[in-house]
Amino acid sequence: MIVKKIFLIIHILAYKIVRIKAFYYSKLFKRCGKNFYLWGNCYIKNPQKIEIGNNVSINDGAYLNGLGGIEIGNNVSISALAKIVSTSLDIKVFKIEKLHINKKITIGNNVQIGVGAIILSGMTIGDNVIVGAGAVVTKDINSNSIAVGNPAKVLRKI
Ligand SMILES: CC(C)(COP(=O)(O)OP(=O)(O)OC[C@H]1O[C@@H](n2cnc3c(N)ncnc32)[C@H](O)[C@@H]1OP(=O)(O)O)[C@@H](O)C(=O)NCCC(=O)NCCS
Repeated sequence: MIVKKIFLIIHILAYKIVRIKAFYYSKLFKRCGKNFYLWGNCYIKNPQKIEIGNNVSINDGAYLNGLGGIEIGNNVSISALAKIVSTSLDIKVFKIEKLHINKKITIGNNVQIGVGAIILSGMTIGDNVIVGAGAVVTKDINSNSIAVGNPAKVLRKI
């Protein structure tokens, strides 16, 4: 019983430490608004090229690579294990070399990126959008819509 209590305290403390990590990233980002939360361990590359609005939360295991630039609006939640990757390989020269092409990803206001979703480089997601669990976003998603699947397609407007 005592072991369980100790482990529970450690577990809670681990999440408290994540608050420090959120503060650390908020200083590394190109821009970071109010109320930025990390809920668990996340992986963030090139934070200096990532812009974050107000009320943004990133959940356990999410991966963001800001190499091509990532701009995230206000009231955005990035669910666990989602991936936002602003770099890709140039297919034209793939046989010769592995040349990266970096393109900015823009995410609007009031957006939920579902658990395990993948947002590819160059994509723009409008305002009031839900990207469903496991979706792979290969084309822009207009405002006021729910998009699901691989490749992601609009399920319905909201
Ligand atoms: C996208 C989502 C919001 C849609 O919810 P909904 O409007 O209640 O959708 P429904 O359950 O009525 O499903 C409608 C159709 O879309 C399909 N669908 C729903 N979610 C889907 C998904 N993530 N991927 C693929 N298809 C999906 C359903 O199978 C159904 O298809 P059908 O009409 O052929 O039967 C929801 O399914 C989802 O993915 N939520 C994200 C969950 C998540 O990430 N949680 C963590 C953070 S809170």
